[in-house]
Amino acid sequence: MNGGVEMDRELALEFARVTEAAALAAAKWMGTGLKHEADHAATTAMRTVFDTIAIDGTVVIGEGEMDEAPMLYIGEKLGKGADKVDVAVDPLEGTNIVAKGLWNAMAVVAVAPEGTLLHAPDMYMDKLAVGPVASGLVDIEAPVEHNLRVVARAAGKSIGDVVAILLDRPRHGDLINRIRRTGARIKLITDGDVAAALNTAFPETGVDIMFGVGGAPEGVLAAAALKCLGGEFQGRLVPQNDIERNRCLEMGLVDPGQVLRMSDLVRGDDAIFAATGVTEGELLRGVRFLGGDLATTHSLVMRASSGTVRFIEARHRLQKKPNLVMV
Ligand code: FBP
Repeated sequence: MNGGVEMDRELALEFARVTEAAALAAAKWMGTGLKHEADHAATTAMRTVFDTIAIDGTVVIGEGEMDEAPMLYIGEKLGKGADKVDVAVDPLEGTNIVAKGLWNAMAVVAVAPEGTLLHAPDMYMDKLAVGPVASGLVDIEAPVEHNLRVVARAAGKSIGDVVAILLDRPRHGDLINRIRRTGARIKLITDGDVAAALNTAFPETGVDIMFGVGGAPEGVLAAAALKCLGGEFQGRLVPQNDIERNRCLEMGLVDPGQVLRMSDLVRGDDAIFAATGVTEGELLRGVRFLGGDLATTHSLVMRASSGTVRFIEARHRLQKKPNLVMV
């Protein structure tokens, strides 16, 4: 294993508490049209809970650089000491989703031994994700038609039964046409490609493969999730200008467009991934406020080293955690 000792397994539950808090806080803003407020609420709640955890963490994927983000900025130290870990956070993955009350917003955290998570810059990444059934078989450099055929064969499906998921963006017009010509079906999403990547590893979500360009930081989070699940994620940074191209070179990439594989994105065998649904999704239910001070959350917590995948349903008494929820 790269990058130090294995993380304490008790930490997995601690990180679920982190994402629960962020989800509870963000869910209060569902449908308000106020995405920044929702993000701020999630970030504040997440930051508060991180300080109760016995880690010596450094944010490597966060809310922005130190001068742009008041909390959970890149380089910020988290926790009350112990294991040295890299922390990747997206307190609210899908700010627009929450603002509009749509599907699949989540609070997300990935944690791995120090030095093992790629410090992905805030730029676009071309992505390919599949679940365990097609792991090791797909290739982001191969034509999309090839990858669809491979996934169909691996899953024992006809290509017409394969579902590809991708962000509904004009930049994906050609990709969408090519997928359609194969006969495969498509699910277009407004936002939230971490949930999309995650869904490829759970056949019950009805999603087989994720393609397309989204945020690079979200790519590292998705890679951590798929590492825990035995799936596969491949990415290629897509710098838009010279500043972004230089950032790639500073990271040590000889070719900014080189393929980043699982072992580049999450080195070593140890990583913990936790996510809590904010709005409803195929995999995770959203936060539900049940009346009085009761609320429920639905979370997923996984460890790469053990391969254990846990779904956690929790019922919260909000009056007992006033700091974590906007009331
Ligand atoms: P935010 O939560 O920061 O709004 O990001 C949501 C998201 O849809 C990601 O899931 C995705 O990777 C990225 O934005 C796509 O970026 P863009 O909206 O520029 O296409």
